[in-house]
Amino acid sequence: MIQRNGVFLVTGASAGLGKAITTGLARQGATVVMVSRNRQKGEETLSEIAGVTGNPSLDLLVADLSSQQAIRQLAQEFQQRYSRLHILVNNAGAHMQQRQLSVDGIEMNLAINHLSAFLLTNLLVDTMRASAPARIVNVASNAMTRSVNLDDLQSEQTFVPFAVYGQAKLAMALCTYALARRLTGTGVTANALHPGLTATNIVDAVAPPIARPFLGIIKRFLQTPEQGAQTALYLATSPEVEGVTGQYFVRSKQGRSVPNSYDEALQERVWTMSADLVGLERAVSPRS
Ligand SMILES: NC(=O)c1ccc[n+]([C@@H]2O[C@H](COP(=O)([O-])OP(=O)(O)OC[C@H]3O[C@@H](n4cnc5c(N)ncnc54)[C@H](OP(=O)(O)O)[C@@H]3O)[C@@H](O)[C@H]2O)c1
Repeated sequence: MIQRNGVFLVTGASAGLGKAITTGLARQGATVVMVSRNRQKGEETLSEIAGVTGNPSLDLLVADLSSQQAIRQLAQEFQQRYSRLHILVNNAGAHMQQRQLSVDGIEMNLAINHLSAFLLTNLLVDTMRASAPARIVNVASNAMTRSVNLDDLQSEQTFVPFAVYGQAKLAMALCTYALARRLTGTGVTANALHPGLTATNIVDAVAPPIARPFLGIIKRFLQTPEQGAQTALYLATSPEVEGVTGQYFVRSKQGRSVPNSYDEALQERVWTMSADLVGLERAVSPRS
């Protein structure tokens, strides 16, 4: 059972789904560490959530998750402050319409939507093992593509924005399942989810120019961030999913991601490629 006095960490915590997830976790009375890329926005959100929930144990760490050095520093700062981590919600995400490279020379959709979660999780997983039972909750998307172009993981040859975003989400699902396999028997679970279409900033980034004038109307028909946060909150805290791992959830129910996401050989290929891209010599191994 996840403890009420546990330590939870949420990325992308100062907007949209992450803010709603943080608020939901904060209501449970836990220590919630928010990760934001902007200190001022993070502090304002923290004050707001503290006011709404009355939780005095909120904390803020600042990191631009497109930078591997910033992610390493984030993990280090977290470990200096806390010796335990019970729930890690990898929620931060972005949709880039143009091909841009991160400071590490990596295509941005891949860097933010997949590699940041991959690296942060690998850096914190030993802390989570020592805190078990613990849960890793990865916010993926039903926008994931059906397959990965292993010869063009960074979309150098072809760049179709929504497909590039979707490929990063598939990479996240593949590596979630590979991680769950590696963590079997450790008391640490790893699951992925689709939050459902939710009225947040990312919708503005995804929308094609033709739809932009109608976004205000379109968003009224989407879920609120509070509704969209429910599946992540369920996976993070519900006793019903204790011990459940390597699964994909939609609307707080076990679902299926695309067929290729269950291909173990593909999971291992993408795991190895991801470890290489983030410079991890030793990403979690089965019995490390
Ligand atoms: N909304 C949907 O319909 C939907 C559907 C499926 C999946 N998702 C996924 O849900 C997750 C949350 O997205 P959202 O809908 O809540 O959108 P959002 O409002 O745009 O929130 C995205 C969050 O990620 C943070 N972020 C983006 N780039 C970052 C970076 N380089 N470093 C650190 N943080 C960064 C943002 O920080 P700032 O606050 O500084 O911008 C923000 O807090 C994403 O992974 C998204 O792909 C959303």
